[in-house]
Amino acid sequence: MDSKNSKFGNLPPELIVKHPDSNLLHAAPKTLLPNQKLKLLIVEDDSSIATQMKWALGQDYEIFLAEDRLGALEVFRTEQPPVVTLDLGLPPHPAEVEEGFKALSEMLSQDGHVKIIVITGQGEKDNALKAIGEGAYDFFSKPIQIEELKVVLHRAFYVSQLERENRELQQRLSVGSFMGMLGSSPQMQEVFALIRKVGTTEVPVLITGESGTGKELAAKAIHQMSTRKEGPFVVINCSAIPETLLESELFGHEKGAFTGAHVQRKGRFETAQDGTLFLDEIGELSLSLQVKLLRFLQEQRIERLGGREEIFVDVRVMTATNRDLKERMSEGRFREDLYYRLGVVTISLPPLREREGDILLLATSLLHRYSAENKRKITGFTPQAIRALETHHWPGNVRELENRIKRGVIMAEGSKITPEDLELVSQYAKYEGHGLKEAREGLERDFIERAISKNKGNITKAAEELGVARPTLYELMEKLGIKKE
Ligand SMILES: Nc1ncnc2c1ncn2[C@@H]1O[C@H](COP(=O)(O)OP(=O)(O)OP(=O)(O)O)[C@@H](O)[C@H]1O
Ligand SMILES: [Mg+2]
Repeated sequence: MDSKNSKFGNLPPELIVKHPDSNLLHAAPKTLLPNQKLKLLIVEDDSSIATQMKWALGQDYEIFLAEDRLGALEVFRTEQPPVVTLDLGLPPHPAEVEEGFKALSEMLSQDGHVKIIVITGQGEKDNALKAIGEGAYDFFSKPIQIEELKVVLHRAFYVSQLERENRELQQRLSVGSFMGMLGSSPQMQEVFALIRKVGTTEVPVLITGESGTGKELAAKAIHQMSTRKEGPFVVINCSAIPETLLESELFGHEKGAFTGAHVQRKGRFETAQDGTLFLDEIGELSLSLQVKLLRFLQEQRIERLGGREEIFVDVRVMTATNRDLKERMSEGRFREDLYYRLGVVTISLPPLREREGDILLLATSLLHRYSAENKRKITGFTPQAIRALETHHWPGNVRELENRIKRGVIMAEGSKITPEDLELVSQYAKYEGHGLKEAREGLERDFIERAISKNKGNITKAAEELGVARPTLYELMEKLGIKKE
């Protein structure tokens, strides 16, 4: 079916209708190419009305005509128009509405999102309302007032487009997020799959990963998935509390257990009853507390400091570390038996720089959140900022990203965040306007300085990391004016 404008070359002027608000009517939806029109199916058995509608609407839409139910369904299937006008009285019984209703329900069952505007004869309000009840989007009575119909159609296309965009967004978000964790990279999808699996079990889980990779968030997600979700999620950071206090913090104490113990106090194990106890930085736990923890894992019983009875607690233990526990084990600072008990399942969170595509996903979602929280209208990042985000090393992982975006939202002066707003001036920008030689030397200097400081001034190790011999590194340092400190 054809809808080329040339066909309307000799239209009678009274049929060329212009809506007063023609800007609104012609506002092209974003996803269409400039000259591409939206598809409209007109189901109408009265050919003079059909032709009139086609003439009047052909400027705005790509029109498809059908004059009966089967013809309509055929076009509907092949063209998939987002909006349809449907005359309810169709052959073989144009005075009845049966065929029209049938067409309505068949189209809706093929595409539940289609906007069908039902066209009824005069005084057929009952049928119109019934059609709405069955899923029609709107109704319109004959005789057709083109101006009014245009407004109704415009709104129908607009709503359809909005709904579609919304569906697409929801879909993108649901693929890229899981229990409050964002990530569409294969690495994070694997993590999500693992969390799903262990969430419904009772096994202890050890979560490893660099600082700020989301270990606590992952532990919370597992808790939320488990049957303990109504119970408490108690967090304690083993490295933040001195050993002497940590013991009573974890296990509680009886009145008079030590000087200053004026009252009896329950520890975190007891507060976590029926829930999850998350022990962060487990690598820092002292050997004597490791023994106590092991005992709990074996018997599910604890003893308060200064207490005489054992107390049964129903708690799931989860732990996290950003240290290499195996190394601590080889140094004799972490018990092997405890390690194997805690790490029945180990989930390792990848560093942010290794998660393909996640940096921008997280950055965009955080940008929207903080810009709404701060009532700022920031719409995105400049191309330079995107490049800077993608090439930065992210030693502080997601937490660092959060902080930089928070800062960027506050600092941005325009509607887009720049690398300066993020304090991420890229290597390229630094050497802009310099020759290749200076850029190369600058980069070399940065690289070497970073390796030396990372290895705490140990030149042998730095040279090893940089893949050069030690004398070569000394030569380079001399040439580039790098001091050992
Ligand atoms: N995948 C993610 N999606 C969204 N936000 C995340 C994600 N991972 C981490 N975050 C956010 O980053 C911050 C740091 O996460 P979290 O505290 O869980 O990291 P961590 O690994 O426990 O860090 P640390 O080692 O410093 O204790 C939190 O604000 C958290 O909400
Ligand atoms: Mg943490």
